Amino acid sequence: MSVDGRVVAVAGATSSSGVATARALVSAGARVVAVGSNVERLSAFERSVPGASTRVCDLSKLAAVDELASSVTQEFGAVDGLIHLVGGWRGAAGITAQSDDDWVAMDAGFTTLRNTSRAFFDALVSSEAGRLAIVSSTSVERPTAGGASYTAAKAAAESWVRSVADGFRRAQSGSTTSPRAQRAAAVRFAITAFVDDDMRRDNPEKSYSGFTDVDALGQAVVGLWQGVAAELNDARISLIP
Ligand SMILES: NC(=O)c1ccc[n+]([C@@H]2O[C@H](COP(=O)([O-])OP(=O)(O)OC[C@H]3O[C@@H](n4cnc5c(N)ncnc54)[C@H](OP(=O)(O)O)[C@@H]3O)[C@@H](O)[C@H]2O)c1
Repeated sequence: MSVDGRVVAVAGATSSSGVATARALVSAGARVVAVGSNVERLSAFERSVPGASTRVCDLSKLAAVDELASSVTQEFGAVDGLIHLVGGWRGAAGITAQSDDDWVAMDAGFTTLRNTSRAFFDALVSSEAGRLAIVSSTSVERPTAGGASYTAAKAAAESWVRSVADGFRRAQSGSTTSPRAQRAAAVRFAITAFVDDDMRRDNPEKSYSGFTDVDALGQAVVGLWQGVAAELNDARISLIP
C-alpha cells in the first residue's frame, strides 16, 4: 500500500505545514487538491508546489464544501484522503480574558472540520484506502487558562475525529471477526508547535526544542497509506521529536 496515485485533499493548505504536506504527497506520487479561502495565498502555494491542483473554497460554508467534494470526486474519480489543517491559535491572559472574538476564530477550525469530514465522508468510505487526519495539540492533555478557547476547540475536533473513526468502523468492518475489511482510517496527529525553515532563519538563536518540523508532518501524512487501516483508525499519533 502506498499513497502513489491516490487523490488527497489538503483543506487549509497555504500555511507552511500545508505546503510541506502537499510537497511530500506530490513527491510520493499523490494527486493533491489544495484548498484555501485566499486567492493570493493559493497563488503563492501554486508556485511552491507546482504539481498540486488548487481550489478556492470557504470551508466554513457547508454548501460550498459539499460542492467542492462533488466536483473533486467527479474530476478525479475518487477521493482517498482528507488532511484537514484549518486551525490557527489565539491565547489570552487567563480565563476572564478569553474573548468571544477569539472563540469565533477558534471555532472556525472545528466548524470547517465538521464541514469537510461530512462532505468527503462517503468518498473516503468508498476509497480502497480512505484516510482522514487533523493536527491537534498537546494542550488537550494539559489545558491552560490562557489557551482555554484554543484547547476547547481542539478537544472538540479530536472528539469529532474519533466519531468519524467510529463511522468508518461501522461503515466497513461489519464484524470483529473480519478486521481486514476495514479500509478507511481517521487519525489525530499531536504536536506542541510547528517549526519551518523561515522561522529558523528569522531566529537562529532559538533551539526550537520540542517543535515539530513541518516536513515531519508531510512524511507522517505520506506514511498513513503504508499503515493498516484497522490499526490506524482512531489513533492519536504524537509527532513530537
Ligand atoms: N502552528 C502551530 O504551531 C500548531 C500547533 C499545534 C497545532 N497546530 C495545528 O496544525 C494545523 C495547521 O496549522 P498551521 O499553523 O500550519 O495553519 P493555520 O494557521 O491553522 O491555517 C491553515 C490554513 O487554513 C486556511 N483557512 C483558514 N480559514 C479557512 C476557511 N474558512 N476556508 C478555507 N481555508 C481556510 C488558511 O488559508 P487561507 O487563508 O488561504 O484560507 C491556512 O492556509 C492547524 O489545525 C493548527 O491548529 C498548529
